Amino acid sequence: MKILSIETSCDETSAAVVTLKDNKTIEVLSNITATSLAIHATTGGIIPENAAREQIKYIIPVITEALLSSEKINLKSDKEKFVKSKEILEEKIDAIAVTYGPGLIGSLLVGVETAKTLSYVFNKPIIPVNHLLAHLFANFITNTTQVKNEQPEFPLIGLIVSGGHTDLLYFETFSKFKWLGGTRDDAAGEALDKIGRILNLTYPAGPEIEERAKQVKTPEIKFQSPLIYSKDFEFSFSGLKAEVARFVEANKDNLEPKINQICFAVQKAIIDVLIKKTIRAAKMYKNNTILIGGGVSANQALQTQLKKQVKNELINTQVFSPERKYSTDNAAMIGAYALLNYEPVEWNQIKANPELYFD
Ligand code: KG4
Ligand code: ZN
Repeated sequence: MKILSIETSCDETSAAVVTLKDNKTIEVLSNITATSLAIHATTGGIIPENAAREQIKYIIPVITEALLSSEKINLKSDKEKFVKSKEILEEKIDAIAVTYGPGLIGSLLVGVETAKTLSYVFNKPIIPVNHLLAHLFANFITNTTQVKNEQPEFPLIGLIVSGGHTDLLYFETFSKFKWLGGTRDDAAGEALDKIGRILNLTYPAGPEIEERAKQVKTPEIKFQSPLIYSKDFEFSFSGLKAEVARFVEANKDNLEPKINQICFAVQKAIIDVLIKKTIRAAKMYKNNTILIGGGVSANQALQTQLKKQVKNELINTQVFSPERKYSTDNAAMIGAYALLNYEPVEWNQIKANPELYFD
């Protein structure tokens, strides 16, 4: 079974062709992503209207490239590309998967309506995919960072940390799961990006904060790790942003030399609470697998410290994190989810849902 998958929930336009190998491992045959990030960096954040306009520009070229690249075909002219990619879609693709939420409505609509049209015209089954769950199932893509290339086993704890969400879930199976808790206000990535704006860093700020934090050998600043001592699985990051703003105001005359220290302290405050609550959930639900996913899961400090803590406290538990290219938004994870939860619907039953959460 080969799936063409499409992801357009925010500022990335991505298409992939994925297949199920040996009935259990996901192989990515192509994964093409165009991003309008450079435009959003100039405005210090995403303006939804701009993101949707860029999605429209990229969607067909990205799908065409994903189809051609899945067959290792390299063509020069646009005409040849369109003819050949149409042939691949007709003959080699069994189904189409698409993100239907959550996300920005204008961006989502571009992917959903394109996928519906292709499904209708080419008579292919279509699978709607929840973007958040797909972030976790990116861990089922065969990759080099996994422990002995093993697949994650259920039951498991999943931590989603992205620009829009911070959620802890317990999964008995792919489709049987329980939401344990999430953020009361800003998501972890959102907090990093907003703090980045206060510090004048490049948007999105997560990668720069990580790089700057790495330069710090002797930490000198400490920020509160929000809700770290609460016994629930809730998070809250807006207070941290306010604390940083106060620190910046108090140190505005000589801020530049302190920026790396601030980045280190911010990253530590966020990571510490994420790790603490994830381990608590794994202990409470007595499972041997932890998955992390979403853009913030690309953070090396989060990955190494979580793995280290788990090794100390939960001897038999394995932590899985996706390869960096599958941590941030990508279509391969959408295809992976659709292959593992193959539930096609009629093409006219899919509707973009910006508020989609966990049903
Ligand atoms: O999952 P994602 O690509 O998009 C959403 O679904 O939101 O996540 C984007 C978020 C941004 O907030 C970005 O700052 C953060 O992921 N991010 C990182 C890193 N790379 C991206 N945060 C911390 N460390 C990173 N290396
Ligand atoms: Zn995402």
